[in-house]
Amino acid sequence: MKLHLRNARILTLAGPVGPRRGKALGELGVIPKGEVLIEDGIIVAVGAHVLASSDAEVIDARGQVLMPGFVDCHTHACWAGDRLDEWDLKLTGVPYLDILQAGGGIHSTVAAVRAAGVVELTSSLGERLAMMLHEGTTTMEVKSGYGLDTKNELKLLRAIRRAAKKWECTVLTTALLGHAFEGDLAEFVEMTVEETLPTVSAEFPGVMVDAFCEEGAWPREACVRLLAQAQAMGHPGRVHADQFNSLGMIPEAIRLGLRSVDHLEASTNNDLRALAVAPTMGVILPATGFHTDGRYARARQFVDEGGALALATNYNPGSAPCYSMPFAISLAVRYCGLTSAEAIAACTVNAATLLGLADRGTIAPGQRADLALLLHRDERALAHEVGGNPVDWVMCNGRIIRN
Ligand code: NIG
Repeated sequence: MKLHLRNARILTLAGPVGPRRGKALGELGVIPKGEVLIEDGIIVAVGAHVLASSDAEVIDARGQVLMPGFVDCHTHACWAGDRLDEWDLKLTGVPYLDILQAGGGIHSTVAAVRAAGVVELTSSLGERLAMMLHEGTTTMEVKSGYGLDTKNELKLLRAIRRAAKKWECTVLTTALLGHAFEGDLAEFVEMTVEETLPTVSAEFPGVMVDAFCEEGAWPREACVRLLAQAQAMGHPGRVHADQFNSLGMIPEAIRLGLRSVDHLEASTNNDLRALAVAPTMGVILPATGFHTDGRYARARQFVDEGGALALATNYNPGSAPCYSMPFAISLAVRYCGLTSAEAIAACTVNAATLLGLADRGTIAPGQRADLALLLHRDERALAHEVGGNPVDWVMCNGRIIRN
């Protein structure tokens, strides 16, 4: 199957391998009027003109922006139940961490997940993946974390894997084993490290492992223990840190060589500076501040200091009920100080790099044909427009899905 896309404003994001830092983050490698040739799901040529054989199907992009499909590198999209009663409570002024400490929040979703079967979890995740796809996301990371115990974490991980198999786009799984705790903290951490981690490792070798370092969730020392052990067993580590409180996790994440530190709303200047010069990436999740308390990560500072930045939705039923990367971009530009170009690079090439996927996030020969055609002729409209869906069609592995 050959496709010849013509008359597109192409954001190639061409550049060196690895995450874009500093000025390079804002360089989209634009071809103002270009063409792309795709064969069997792979991009074979890109340029102002490409040589296409007569059997290629021609698609006229009418001058609209053609860009890599979004890579949403941080979601909690596999859940059951809802948190709408807690949302009512939150609207009266009760903070997120107070709801968590009173046994709600993540714990409410844990109860609903435990009551749900793997089939229900798989099918509701499938519906959410479809919504994300229609907003231009072609690769999504999905975390477990609402099981807490071994049996229910495995149930979630299996549901994510099942949904991934049925799915035409790419779903990457992360075992969020340190999300909250029940009963005695020390015993819970012991169980997670000595029982849940090895069991998960046996069934999901090499899966990314994550933890939530926060007051009322996992303390820093517990995160360090879990993530050090996970990395020693061959699992790349990530950590949620500084969402509400800075607990000193960033220096530990750098020391451990974690893939990323995610959230960063409450990070100190010193910690942000240290992260900016480390190989560990920073991930901002502005839909969280938008939904919870109006606090945002200082991404401008992080990028100016040389940090490798990714941007994601954090799609979950509590702190960020948002599956739209275009909306996350519009927030990152309004509240985190990024330019539209930087926000686009942060959720394409940089997010793909964070997930260890070198075959996407740019439009170049040899890359997967995971693309999005915007309705717009100027990519800045992605950040400017709020609340609509700017995607005309999305292509996954060379197959077009129209909105
Ligand atoms: O990244 N902070 C921890 N985990 C999610 C929220 C999960 C939830 O509230 O259900 C987050 O914001």
